[in-house]
Amino acid sequence: MRVALLANLKKNAPTWPGMSPDQWDDLDSEETLESILAALRLGGHEAEFFEANQTLLQTLPSYKPDICFNISEGHWGDGREAQVPALLEMLRLPYTGSRVLALALALDKPMTKRVLAFHSLPTPPFQSFERLDEPIDPDMTFPMFVKPSREGTGMGVSAQSIVHNETELRRQLRELIERYRQPALVERFIDGREITVGVVGNLTRPVAKRLPEDEDAPRITAGLHFLPPLEVDLDRYPTEEAGLYTGRVKTELADDFHYLCPAPLGDEQLEELNYLAAAVFRVLGCVDVARVDFRLDRNDDDKPYVLEINPLPGLNARISDLVIEARADGVSYAELINSVLLYAAARQGLMPRGISLDWPAVRLPQGD
Ligand SMILES: Nc1ncnc2c1ncn2[C@@H]1O[C@H](COP(=O)(O)OP(=O)(O)OP(=O)(O)O)[C@@H](O)[C@H]1O
Ligand SMILES: [Mg+2]
Repeated sequence: MRVALLANLKKNAPTWPGMSPDQWDDLDSEETLESILAALRLGGHEAEFFEANQTLLQTLPSYKPDICFNISEGHWGDGREAQVPALLEMLRLPYTGSRVLALALALDKPMTKRVLAFHSLPTPPFQSFERLDEPIDPDMTFPMFVKPSREGTGMGVSAQSIVHNETELRRQLRELIERYRQPALVERFIDGREITVGVVGNLTRPVAKRLPEDEDAPRITAGLHFLPPLEVDLDRYPTEEAGLYTGRVKTELADDFHYLCPAPLGDEQLEELNYLAAAVFRVLGCVDVARVDFRLDRNDDDKPYVLEINPLPGLNARISDLVIEARADGVSYAELINSVLLYAAARQGLMPRGISLDWPAVRLPQGD
């Protein structure tokens, strides 16, 4: 196939005086884009990179891709990750990964949590602060955790995110609301292990997004493949990081990543995390690939809480969680990338009918 790789390169992002130094931490590096292009070519495809902005309206019709490999994060607005998919749908071009609604929803953590709560999926109790002076909900108890509503890559997450009293809470709210110009999400602080579960594929039957109300109903996961969970080995980081997967750990310290993969978990616990990952993937309407982040509450028998779902998980060949998980599953980087492409192609009718894709969807002679 002819594939257009759509992404926002960090080095092409706009800058201005006084911008936050982490403003574009979730955008991609040239290294990542080169690896994806090389992987797609290894899979036998033609592949070119296009900066994911309004120039796509000119560049894509002249390139005429069969499909777009979309990892665009966007620059502006509360639905920035959904903008390129919206444009591709206008142009009637197929693309990999989740669609407009799922991307906009998953980018907004409080909205995601409202959907999870509706389905009784476990997520820490929370309150969204749109203004600094909003009263604290009486159900909320300290310690709490404060983070931006619509960022990734640990932006705005540091030891100061854990707040123990109202003074600390208001200070942190002011800092985040001013720096990121968006509501702040305040959650119950979950002290415990940090696990992330990668999911690839698509639920086979056209299943409803909503979960059955009956808790004993069969747990539908057919068509999805769960990668071995990755645990961030928080004890091996400097104490300043306060046992958190902070922005600093995800950027400055990323090359010295400490993790356990597969995470040491009992069978039942693994099954529960996989079920929850599938349920979150399903109720948000994700497709092809995602990564669900959890914390296990050490004060409540390691009860799992969903922190968020990432429908555009990082795809750096050396350091991204999803790639490490695939490798622990015996699947190379190129096989992972090409599998995502093929799941998307099959879902959108670009593959011969009746073809059923396993995991990985393709085995390639050379590894990465
Ligand atoms: N309620 C909470 N209790 C304890 N720690 C939390 C809580 N929420 C977030 N954290 C910590 O902050 C980190 C970042 O939070 P979260 O996953 O929500 O943000 P993110 O920056 O969007 O992450 P990603 O890089 O996966 O996109 C978590 O990995 C965890 O270490
Ligand atoms: Mg996360």
